[in-house]
Amino acid sequence: MKQEQVQEHFARQADNYEKLMVKLIPQYLEQHQIIHDLLPDEGKRCRVLDLGCGNGILSEVVLQKLPHSHIVGFDLTENMLKAFAKKLSRYSGKFALQQGDFRTDSIGKGYDIIIAGLTLHHLTWQEREDFYQVVYSALNYGGLFLARDIIIDEDQAVRQEQYAHWKAFMKAQGEDPELWYAKHIEKDHPMTITDHFAWLRSAGFVKVACHWRFFNFAITTAEKV
Ligand SMILES: C[S@@+](CC[C@H](N)C(=O)[O-])C[C@H]1O[C@@H](n2cnc3c(N)ncnc32)[C@H](O)[C@@H]1O
Repeated sequence: MKQEQVQEHFARQADNYEKLMVKLIPQYLEQHQIIHDLLPDEGKRCRVLDLGCGNGILSEVVLQKLPHSHIVGFDLTENMLKAFAKKLSRYSGKFALQQGDFRTDSIGKGYDIIIAGLTLHHLTWQEREDFYQVVYSALNYGGLFLARDIIIDEDQAVRQEQYAHWKAFMKAQGEDPELWYAKHIEKDHPMTITDHFAWLRSAGFVKVACHWRFFNFAITTAEKV
């Protein structure tokens, strides 16, 4: 799928984003507690980059735990950034928004934390492997890269079984599983955890971990030491 189509797809979802995610992503809201717990200790003052920030749902988790931090919300889609500004208006002054394409535009540097929620699967595998080097360079030493994303199992049969579970979940939420599955197959490039870890290590990260996995979704971290 072309980048304009990705943008158009998310522009249409911006106002209703969270309600839709709850119906498409198993344990979507529950994941936020895990992400909250994986962040550094409360009170730390961090420079944070939220890649593919969408409506700011993960930035809000960060600012709830680390209220002295500053966040750059980076996203391709203008409507999502508008939704971010509205949702996080009470944190005004604690964030800056940047519209851009992380495949081609600078993401800046000097961050203590980079988070990426359900966005890096838009990169092809080669783009993603290369992009992990960009993420590594953009982090300070001691920095944390936290990603939640769609994954695929290494085993084909397990992969199909997990897609069947995902479809059943969406159906139970009243969504059309075949429609969303077709969109996923058309536009996304999910990776295996094995590739993810290998690309992170080859970018320079030494400590990589998977903290939560539910069928074809995972939350992982990598540390730059
Ligand atoms: C599914 S939303 C994720 C929102 C939020 N991070 C979350 O965890 O729920 C994906 C977001 O990534 C953005 N996005 C997709 N490709 C991008 C790119 N190449 N550069 C910047 N943002 C991108 C979309 O505009 C969209 O807002």
